Amino acid sequence: MSLVLDPAAQDLLFREARTANTFTDEPVTDEQVQAIYDLVKYGPTAFNQSPLRITLVRSPEARERLVRHMAEGNRPKTATAPLVAILSADNEFHEELPQLFPHFPQAKDAFFSERVVRENAAAMNATLQAGYFLIGVRAAGLAAGPMTGFDFEGVRKEFLDDDHTPLMIVNIGKPGPDAWFPRSPRLAYDQVVTTV
Ligand SMILES: Cc1cc2nc3c(=O)[nH]c(=O)nc-3n(C[C@H](O)[C@H](O)[C@H](O)COP(=O)(O)O)c2cc1C
Repeated sequence: MSLVLDPAAQDLLFREARTANTFTDEPVTDEQVQAIYDLVKYGPTAFNQSPLRITLVRSPEARERLVRHMAEGNRPKTATAPLVAILSADNEFHEELPQLFPHFPQAKDAFFSERVVRENAAAMNATLQAGYFLIGVRAAGLAAGPMTGFDFEGVRKEFLDDDHTPLMIVNIGKPGPDAWFPRSPRLAYDQVVTTV
């Protein structure tokens, strides 16, 4: 009763949505990914810094190179998902700040001249955006399989550069047969929320 979002949308985004481990071979198009991005780009980040970067792994050759860096248990699903995306944080996001935060263009130099500060900010804010992206995948009627079981340095060297830090790799598609384990329990409200 307290939520204003349509109950069907609540189910689609959260209650019925699951982390998929198998997928059908129905393709995920660039148009779908663009629609997802154009929705979730509005999720908030500090200074609107928007440090998330997304690398779509489409060619069979690139997929093969990626699978080599995955943990053993993650290999079959990464090899067979219709689409795999590498989500990374851009540690040089400050270059775009004058465009992204035009009412305070000095933010770039006033707050983000030090690389270590940028790395910390990018890690937090790109991870937030990765969460928005996972929910956006669900909004497109697709299932996401996020994974951090991979060789981070290997993936950085293979697909990114020194200015980008991998965050997670996401399998995307329609769920296939036996796509998930039984739902694991979540913490109850009282275990999580305190009031002072
Ligand atoms: C950041 C992140 C990393 C994850 N890494 C892996 C992984 O490497 N391998 C895997 O099989 N599942 C991985 N998972 C899947 C989680 O175990 C799964 O999302 C969680 O148990 C909830 O499952 P449910 O959405 O089906 O309820 C990861 C999930 C997230 C969000």
